[in-house]
Amino acid sequence: MTVERVIKEAISSSLDKINLSGIDFDLDSGNSIQGHGDYATNVALVAFSQNKSYPEAKTPLELAEVIAKTLEKNFSGKETVDKIEVAPPGFINFYLSERFYKKLLVKVINKGDDFGRQIIGRGKTVVIDYSAPNIAKPFGVGHLRSTIIGQALYNIFAFLGYRAVGDNHLGDWGTQFGVLLHQIDQQKIDPKKLTMEDLEKLYVDFYQKLGQEPRLQEKARSYFKRLELGEQKLKNIWRDLVNLSLFEYQKVYSLLKVNIDFSLGESFYQDKMKAVLDEAKNKNLVIKSKGALIMPLEDSPVPAMLVKSDGATTYLLRDLATIKYRVERWNPELIIYEVGADHKLHFTQTFEAAEKLDYIKRERLVHVAHGMIRGRLGKLSTRGGRIIHLGKVLKEAIDRARQLSTQAGIAKDLPIKGQEKVARVVGIGAVKYNDLKQNPRTNIVFDWQKILTLEGNSGPYLQYTYARARRVLEKSGTDTNLTKIPEYQPKREELAITRLICYFEKVINESARTFSPNLIANLLYQLAQNYNTFYNQHQILTKNKEAKAFRLLLSKATAQVLKNGLGLLGIEAPEKM
Ligand code: ARG
Repeated sequence: MTVERVIKEAISSSLDKINLSGIDFDLDSGNSIQGHGDYATNVALVAFSQNKSYPEAKTPLELAEVIAKTLEKNFSGKETVDKIEVAPPGFINFYLSERFYKKLLVKVINKGDDFGRQIIGRGKTVVIDYSAPNIAKPFGVGHLRSTIIGQALYNIFAFLGYRAVGDNHLGDWGTQFGVLLHQIDQQKIDPKKLTMEDLEKLYVDFYQKLGQEPRLQEKARSYFKRLELGEQKLKNIWRDLVNLSLFEYQKVYSLLKVNIDFSLGESFYQDKMKAVLDEAKNKNLVIKSKGALIMPLEDSPVPAMLVKSDGATTYLLRDLATIKYRVERWNPELIIYEVGADHKLHFTQTFEAAEKLDYIKRERLVHVAHGMIRGRLGKLSTRGGRIIHLGKVLKEAIDRARQLSTQAGIAKDLPIKGQEKVARVVGIGAVKYNDLKQNPRTNIVFDWQKILTLEGNSGPYLQYTYARARRVLEKSGTDTNLTKIPEYQPKREELAITRLICYFEKVINESARTFSPNLIANLLYQLAQNYNTFYNQHQILTKNKEAKAFRLLLSKATAQVLKNGLGLLGIEAPEKM
């Protein structure tokens, strides 16, 4: 049982004793250095605001005193909490005991890679829809965010005991294929010989010609229509384009070490859209409008278009078929869409339509609408306005990590192969961390100077701290035997570290609840900062045996939490650096 649970249950039972059961209170992590306790609750304030009173208590502060008294009895003789105090206007603060903290460190070591793992999601499934690049277009930085955040959410939910199902909803169907099919067919190109760059050129060429020849649009549409009708020649070209793109994407995924469970893609729903249309018609949810089939909606500003006036199916219709399929196959508690904020309207419409069709309640569909990545000097695109290719960005990250290592003299004692591994782990980790340290909903800045640095809130800083703690343990030679509780009275700055470790489980829950991996990143950053402060102030391998034992225990637990937390973010922790 986590310490939060222990305290919350104690509060609930105290409330029962004074006949104030059923109050919905918060328990927040406090700041005991500033005298706010390790945890604090607003229960007395909430009780007052709900006009639930206790005869002798005239103010929230007095009520807090009454509750604190009953709590003290509850905790006396137990090891968890050793001080409870009341603070105006009516907070109750809890201070955890030294013994509790020491035992926590031992627990971290015993649990190892499983420290923080929970079972609250047991029996429940979440589907996570992420990455989803568009076939025949390069994997741009825009899909990088989706891939990185989506994978972190996947890891977090799985760690909490949910069955996580990752699905890469590839953009492998839709009118955009009309353009390429038109180009390839008209110019009699052998699709097997095409590269991704060629495809880009074909697009650019098409849109240039379109200026003089507006009828081209019409022609491209009819190509997609023929594809939807199943024309074999076009299907073969389409298949080649898909294979070519997947081959390219795979390079990016293997650099990122991302492996998504399913890649059903939009094309998977070709034969599943009709059922949705039939249901929509039977339920009288759709009307014809200018030849198109649309579903009027109440809560979205525009109706949902399911079929276009030329008979082509829409992206939205495929998303409805996807929801129906996912519900039937996995019966998920939640479907999480890690997709850019530019999809806001699309998902508002899709979710409302799915609810109207009775597939799933809207509350169970979540759009984590991530912001844009901007370059330090503005939009992240090449001079010609084309999107920057992710493969190139990642290669550059690795190169820069190599330079950083050389400058800082890192990894210089490792064999060449080891150095290369460090460069990859640090470079890729830096790019991922830059993204994950910030709330997904905000726009983020891509600034190499801040991404690949050993100072400040960066991936390399956390990895370096991890390697630093591991190095001390290795030097001490006692790495394996650290489960005894040392007789040592920890200093304030040492307790500050254990407190952060204590919050780890709670923060994982919070990050899942709010779909915000950045909460984990922030905790790790604080942990690393506190550990480095401690490291610079104290000699870990001191002559004082008990102090040394405690500090090694603290170092090992810190390293473990950094490793587990980075793991949730999809970032590797290098043993040596
Ligand atoms: N391929 C789409 C795009 O890049 C994103 C797909 C997101 N997922 C979904 N179920 N619609 O614009």
